[in-house]
Order: sequence, then C-alpha cells, then structure tokens
Amino acid sequence: MHFTVSDLVLDIVQNAAEAQSRVVTVILEESDTQFRFIVQDDGKGMTAEELQRALDPFHTDGIKHPHRKVGLGLPFLVQTAEQCGGGWDITSKKGQGTKVTAWFSLEHVDTPPLGDIPGLIRMILLLPGPQELVVQRTLNRARRQASYEVRKTELQDVLGDLEEAGSQVLLDQYLHSLEEEE
Ligand SMILES: Nc1ncnc2c1ncn2[C@@H]1O[C@H](COP(=O)(O)OP(=O)(O)OP(=O)(O)O)[C@@H](O)[C@H]1O
Ligand SMILES: [Mg+2]
Repeated sequence: MHFTVSDLVLDIVQNAAEAQSRVVTVILEESDTQFRFIVQDDGKGMTAEELQRALDPFHTDGIKHPHRKVGLGLPFLVQTAEQCGGGWDITSKKGQGTKVTAWFSLEHVDTPPLGDIPGLIRMILLLPGPQELVVQRTLNRARRQASYEVRKTELQDVLGDLEEAGSQVLLDQYLHSLEEEE
C-alpha cells in the first residue's frame, strides 16, 4: 500500500467540502522535523456522538469506495498520525463547523512521503461545494523557505473557470512557482 500524507489531507478537506461549508481553510505547515495541517470548515458540524461514530474504525465499511487504494476517513488519519510520531485534535460543533488538526514527525520511519504539495493544493481548489477555499502554506526548512496563501475566488477572477484545461495548466505552473520561490 502506497499513500502519501497529501492523500490524507485531501480526504479530510473533501469531508469539509461535503459538509455544506461556505468557507474551508486549509493550513499546511512544514519544518525540518514536522508536518502539520489544519482543516477548518463552517459546515454542518457534528455532535459529540456523531464525532465519536466518525472516529470509530468499525463504521468505515469500505463499500462506498471499493476502488480506493486505502481506507481513508478520520479513523485512518488518527491511526496514521499516532503511528508516525504525531498526533491529532478534532473539534466540532453541530451547525457551526469542524476543525481537524493532525501532525506527523518527519523523522519517524513510518511517516509516509508528503507527496506533491502543489498537486494537493490544486485538487483542494477544484473541490466542488464551498464558495471559498483558502490554502495557507508555510515551508520553514533550513534549506528552503516559502510562505504563501491562495484563494479560490481570487484565482477564479484571474483564470476564469478553474476546471478548464487552459486554466489548469496555468494554475499548476503558478502553484509550483509559489512552492519553489524563496
Ligand atoms: N468536516 C466534517 N463536517 C461534518 N461532518 C463530518 C466532517 N468530517 C466527517 N464528517 C462525518 O463523519 C462521517 C465519516 O467521515 P469519513 O470521511 O470517515 O467517511 P465518509 O466521508 O462518509 O466517506 P468517504 O470518506 O469514504 O467518502 C461523514 O459521513 C460525516 O458524517
Ligand atoms: Mg470522507
């Protein structure tokens, strides 16, 4: 089974986008020793009981997405973070929204590769549902630093429909340039 931390992040952002949210904010922070992400939404939220059920691995049936290479969802995130010298925190209020935080030690042998961060951000921006998707990225490694923010509505103003092939090429180039600049 090969998966990346980016796959986990996308799954959590997908949950947020599916929760009738208007605004979803994603923070991706990376240092030499740790990767941390936060996904905050203003969607339907969960009661304590609903959250408990969502965290229960026996409620993930694997039927909804038989083509998936890994069983994802909240239980998988929790399990992976705990196995990788990291941790997690989830808070949710019914009718108000949800905040999922998870971190991974980049020095732990079991931590999967981070994957393609510009590719992850592109997929986040293309998720249907929320009016606004905000991604805040901070890369603070000894050899490389970057700090930038992208917003779906601002990119739509410049590029038009993000789904179009032409827009996708430009978006991809733009996201790579942000990640690679000093
Ligand atoms: N951000 C969120 N806001 C509200 N409810 C959520 C959120 N994240 C998860 N949930 C609830 O937890 C349930 C379980 O989430 P999980 O990602 O494990 O499975 P799923 O989204 O139902 O299915 P899949 O991820 O396989 O498409 C969801 O169906 C939803 O009811
Ligand atoms: Mg899900």
